[in-house]
Order: sequence, then structure tokens, then C-alpha cells
Amino acid sequence: MLRCAACSRSLDADQPLPWRCPGETGDRHHILLIHRDEPTVSTATRSAIATDTNPFVRFAPRLAWWDFVHAHGWNDEQSIDAIRRLDDRVAAVAGTGFRITPLTVSPPLSEAVGLGGRVFVKNETGNVAGSHKARHLFSILLHLVAAEELGLTPWTRRDDRPALAISSCGNAAIAASTLAAAAQWPIDVFIPEWAGGVVVDTLDALGARVNRCPRRSDDPPGDPTVHRFREAVAHGAIPFSVQGPENSLCLDGGRTIGWESAEQLHELGVTSLSAVYAQVGGGAFAASLSRGLSEGGVRAPLVAVQTAGCAPLARAWEIAHDSTQAWATDWTRFMWPWEHEPTSLADGILDDETYDWVADFAQLEASGGRVVVAPEDDVVLAATLAPQASGIAASPTGTAGVAGLITEARGGLVRGDVMVVLSGVRR
Ligand SMILES: Cc1ncc(COP(=O)(O)O)c(C=O)c1O
Ligand SMILES: [Zn+2]
Repeated sequence: MLRCAACSRSLDADQPLPWRCPGETGDRHHILLIHRDEPTVSTATRSAIATDTNPFVRFAPRLAWWDFVHAHGWNDEQSIDAIRRLDDRVAAVAGTGFRITPLTVSPPLSEAVGLGGRVFVKNETGNVAGSHKARHLFSILLHLVAAEELGLTPWTRRDDRPALAISSCGNAAIAASTLAAAAQWPIDVFIPEWAGGVVVDTLDALGARVNRCPRRSDDPPGDPTVHRFREAVAHGAIPFSVQGPENSLCLDGGRTIGWESAEQLHELGVTSLSAVYAQVGGGAFAASLSRGLSEGGVRAPLVAVQTAGCAPLARAWEIAHDSTQAWATDWTRFMWPWEHEPTSLADGILDDETYDWVADFAQLEASGGRVVVAPEDDVVLAATLAPQASGIAASPTGTAGVAGLITEARGGLVRGDVMVVLSGVRR
């Protein structure tokens, strides 16, 4: 079941296309969160998936999507088969389907940041489309493809499919265009005016329709790519978004990174960490990683990392210290667009609002976590130090979590074993 944290409306598991709360009226200040218990599955199903290297197959019964297709009559075998078929199509476009990504200990990184304990590094640069973003989107695509097969969509012919739409400046756009190409689904990508040539070339090669979005003089505050994206959605496009308030189902598949990390940590004998550092832009990644870890049985305070050049989540968490828990009902008291021009070398996390702050707050509270603002010097340092020490060619956005670790280690604020995720291959 999905339940809105802002207005408490709920949607049953069988609801098709449950992108946004029905009580939402255009401001996106509602967020449908997943509430469910993992179902018991038969021994046959368990053994069919237990050793699968595709996280969407291995952890399929943990997905909210599992409830959706089962509510419409699919059995376990059909459901797993649907995941495999879609994954094959992704592999044909991306060169790889979804595979559990490596998690290793990096002694050079602990040494470089001056941490007494171990640093566990999840290398997400080899995931589909070079970052974790495709995980969020694959659960949306699974839903779309299943809903279509089940005859639950307003369109019946493939030719009548509405286009997918996403706003992003990099990794999410590439992930979305990769999955869209796999499903042969048209996609409109809304990118900033300044987006880099490599990203645009990649999007072009994937067949996406690229829309550059300069700020218009009559635009309200906030990101112009988001405004144009929302206009497209208002005209019927499908929100293929990595932001929960735009499409709640992105928070479903995003958890796979936490589930598989938890299993990998367990294999190394680790059931708790002093901290898991997550770079925060829109906020879906930190929320999903942290929730997945905890659902996988690893206790780890979430340390949400922002850069000094754009830190709306830190601002919100500061305000929340002296407030009650009904955060989402009082949305704009906590979250509004960052007032200054956001700047940082980690340009992929310069979202001027932390769209998924409610899901982040839930994890910060449940895990006993905190928000750290990394000075730009530490962002720059992490961008060279993390790839050097780990041998993983992640972008400065993808190493920004390490910047938070550097900041805290220098201040003596963290001790013991920690985890970071290097995501977003350097392009
Ligand atoms: C490599 C990388 N890591 C982390 C993030 C942050 O994810 P989120 O926007 O969900 O907070 C992004 C977002 O663009 C990213 O590209
Ligand atoms: Zn609502």
C-alpha cells in the first residue's frame, strides 16, 4: 500500500499508475510512501531467486511492484519472468542488465581520510547507465510494462503510448533514456541550458528528445527544467522521474542498492556501521539506500551529505530540531528553493530543493542520523582522493559522500566502520 505522508490518503497495491497522491493539486507537496510487510513466498520461489545476480529478481518479493502484479493475478513465476524479460532488453541497449554491484573494503581510503575504522565502498559506476539512477527508474518501467500487459493503461495500442518525461542534468537523464530505449518508449528529457556536451551526445545516441531549458523571465522560483517537465506531465507525459513527489514508484526500486549492500555486509560479518554517507541532491538516493540497508538488517545512521553551495536539506533538518513529527503536513515550513545560485564541483547534486526531504527525514530519524554540509574544499579533495584511493573512476558528484566523510573525520565526529557509495561514472 502507498500512503501520503502529507494528507494520509492511501492507494491500494492494485492501483495502476500511482505516480502522485490523489490529493495533490499541483504543488508537489505530497509524497506517497510505501507501507508493506514482506510477503512469505514459497520454498520453490525462494530457491529460484536466492542466488540470482540480478537484484530485481533476487529481492523481487520485497518490491511494492510484487504486490501490484500479484493483485492482478500474476503468480511468482510470471512476475519473475517479466523482470527477466525486461532486464534482457536493458542489457541489449546498455551492455549490461542489472547485476549486484561490488562492495569492498578500501584501506587506502580509510587512511587517506584519517578514519580509524574500515571504509566499505559500494561501486555503483558499473551499474546500468553508470550510476544508481536506473534502479529508481526500473521499478517505474516494470510497473508500466506490467500495467500495459494487464490492460490497465488508458492507451491500448503501443503507438498511442504517451511519452516518458524526465528533468535532469546528467546521470538520471542518461539512465532514463537507456531504459526508454530498452522499452522502445519515446522520451523527452529536460536539461539545463549549461548541460555538458558528453551528456547531450549520449542522450542523442540513445534516441531521446533533448529539450534545453533556459530560465524564462516569467518563471516562478525553482529549477526551469522542473517547470518544463511538469508542463509536459500536465499535457499527458508519464513522469519518468527520480523524485518521489513526481513518481512515488522511484522509491521502490531504489531500495535494491540497500538490500544488496546489506547482504554483502552480512557476508563480511558486518551488521552495523557507524555511518552510511550519502550525497544528497533530490534526496531519493539517500532515502532509498538507508531504508534498504535497514530492511536488509544493517543498522547504520544515515549521514546525508550536502555541499556548502546548496544545502536545503541541512536547512530543513535544522528547523526540524525543534518541531513535531508531522513534517509533511507543513511542507513549506521546511522546504523551499535555495535562495542563492547553487554552485559546486559536485554539480549533479545542486537540486535547489530536496524533493524527497520527507523520505530523508524518516530515515534520518529512524536511523539516528544527521546532515553534514561539506565545505567546497572537501568536495574538491574528495573528487581526486576517492578515485585515487579506491581505483574507481567516479565523478565529483558521485564522490561527494566521501566529502562528508572527510569533513566529519577531520572534526573527529566519526569513528569506526562506515560505508560510502561511489556512483556516477566520470564522463
Ligand atoms: C552520482 C550521483 N550520486 C548521488 C546523487 C544524488 O541522488 P538524489 O538526487 O536522489 O539525492 C546523484 C543525483 O544526481 C548522482 O548523480
Ligand atoms: Zn497527499
